[in-house]
Amino acid sequence: MKGWERQAFSVDAMREMARRVLPRAVFDFADGGAEREWTRDANEDAFRAVSLLPKPLDGAAERDLSTTLFGYRLSMPLMIGPTGLAGMYWPDGELCVARAAKAAGVGAVLSHGSVCTLEAYAAEGLAPRFMQVFVYRDAGFTRELVDRARAAGYHGLVLTIDNQLLGNRERDVRNGFSIPPRPGFALDAATRLRWLWRMRGHLNRITFGNYVRPGEASDIAKIAGRMGEILDPGMSWRDVEAMRRDWDGPFVLKGVLHPDEAERAAALGVDGVVVSNHGGRQLDGAVASLEALPRVVERVGGRIPVLVDGGVRRGVDVLRALALGASAVLVGRPQLWALAVAGEAGVARMLSIYRGELDKAMGLCGVRRIADIDRRILSAGLADEAILPVARAAE
Ligand code: FNR
Repeated sequence: MKGWERQAFSVDAMREMARRVLPRAVFDFADGGAEREWTRDANEDAFRAVSLLPKPLDGAAERDLSTTLFGYRLSMPLMIGPTGLAGMYWPDGELCVARAAKAAGVGAVLSHGSVCTLEAYAAEGLAPRFMQVFVYRDAGFTRELVDRARAAGYHGLVLTIDNQLLGNRERDVRNGFSIPPRPGFALDAATRLRWLWRMRGHLNRITFGNYVRPGEASDIAKIAGRMGEILDPGMSWRDVEAMRRDWDGPFVLKGVLHPDEAERAAALGVDGVVVSNHGGRQLDGAVASLEALPRVVERVGGRIPVLVDGGVRRGVDVLRALALGASAVLVGRPQLWALAVAGEAGVARMLSIYRGELDKAMGLCGVRRIADIDRRILSAGLADEAILPVARAAE
């Protein structure tokens, strides 16, 4: 085992390693949330409130972590979530993530704001790969991105609904993290020689790859300046319906917290929802994802898979989310920390940490297969009258 791997013994440890290696503004861009960051913090804290009730004698020598999601086999119930500008954390960061995810047998969602183009990412051959999109004022541009995703063989489409108005990320303001960067950023970056050396030859190529028009300059400042104006703040269910009609494969809404929205999505033929508050980067004060999950699961009533993201930092957090009814989780920031630590190898390490921790937690709870995870492994679950008949029938 290499030295960095020994240090990278947990996702939290990788976060600390990333903090040491990245310019503060770059670390904070990923780490931060909106305004007071209460929702960002609440996401992680919510997991503490969900206690497990171990039943180790029911376990087996080996567990099977694999599961099926939207018809695709995953080696564990975890996918890489969409995070913009991953290519700022390691050269060709998104492609590194795609390779590591492919090798580990998990799926991934590519952010609209990737540094690479969606076509370059697709060429890595990862399956299932999902493309994340927004709704733009220019309906033609929305359609264009969806058409490109289809042409590049994306298996699914994720429409993020909680980012039409951009959250106030105050760390970015404080750090002068803007595009183009303010002078303070250059000073900050100049102290992070390892990152600067690694990114040499790449820094000036960082852009929003999917927005660069053929024949136009790939100037990220120009594109970023347009971004706030091109998103459609009037997005509505009509857009959801139109996109549903336009896309044949799995179509998923990300950013759902309200049970009413989840129910309406299911009724409209949406194939899945991601319970998410965008990692606490949008509405500070929004409910923690894990807290919102059970009500969404209850309302959807098994019609479509419910995914969740926000604060999943341990394999045991994956177990908790599944016990509360999620079919799988997405991880956001951890992939950026892992990239900053060791690129593709870092992401591979991160995925193996989640896998190892989930496997152990399942074993200690006496669960052998993903399908067997339910509320009965939760301490509070026993007090929940709704599950008592289920427990009795099974025993
Ligand atoms: C994001 N997220 C995000 N979501 C999305 O739908 N499109 C995007 O382009 C981005 N970009 C993005 C950039 C960065 C730097 C971060 C940290 C996050 C949100 C992301 O998909 C996810 O919802 C949260 O990050 C999940 O929380 P954790 O795992 O980061 O706690």
